[in-house]
Amino acid sequence: MIIAVDGPAASGKGTLARRLAGHFGLPHLDTGLLYRATADGVLAAGGDPEDAAAAAAAAARVDPGRLDTARLKRDDIAQAASRVAALPAVRRALLDLQRAFAHQPGGAVLDGRDIATVIAPDADAKLFVTATPAVRATRRLNELQGQGRPAIYADVLRDLLARDARDSQRASAPLTAVETALILDTSSLNADEAFDRALAFVVCAQSSR
Ligand code: CDP
Repeated sequence: MIIAVDGPAASGKGTLARRLAGHFGLPHLDTGLLYRATADGVLAAGGDPEDAAAAAAAAARVDPGRLDTARLKRDDIAQAASRVAALPAVRRALLDLQRAFAHQPGGAVLDGRDIATVIAPDADAKLFVTATPAVRATRRLNELQGQGRPAIYADVLRDLLARDARDSQRASAPLTAVETALILDTSSLNADEAFDRALAFVVCAQSSR
């Protein structure tokens, strides 16, 4: 079974995807880390995240088995990630490994922005996780402060809105919900409630396969 989980930043899609993967005993891929690793590669080499050739070369060097999640979750890397992610050459370079991960025997859970639209349009269950910008900014702020990183709400909200705009307005694989997805607005749901609703939907999709 393939489960596709898409949504904007700090919507709760990562937590939900991990819990679904644990529940069904499926492997999970946080595809955002691939774009973050690409951006990290460009920045570490002193390059410009909007230089398509440099970014595509960095994408080709991404090793999904060696991703330093703690480092890649940094906010400067997130902003650069949404810049490299707008480049078709980068998306092409990361396509095959994501499709192969999704279509491995037994299936998988993937979260990102284009799982249901591009990576696995044939997914058995598609979820689009969202929440209001204010709720998402508060979540991200708490996450950063919990990691001991000083952060200001207004800055977090501004960065998040900038990334939302880039991710949904780009020409290549923009963030959008497919018609058959469950739209899960987690603005007033805690992680357990979001999981329960998603699980009910996935079980239903699974039984009608
Ligand atoms: O964790 P968060 O939701 O903040 O971001 P992420 O999922 O790690 O993704 C970082 C950036 O990578 C996003 O802002 C997107 O621009 C890009 N991305 C994408 O274009 N397609 C994906 N499937 C996953 C991420």
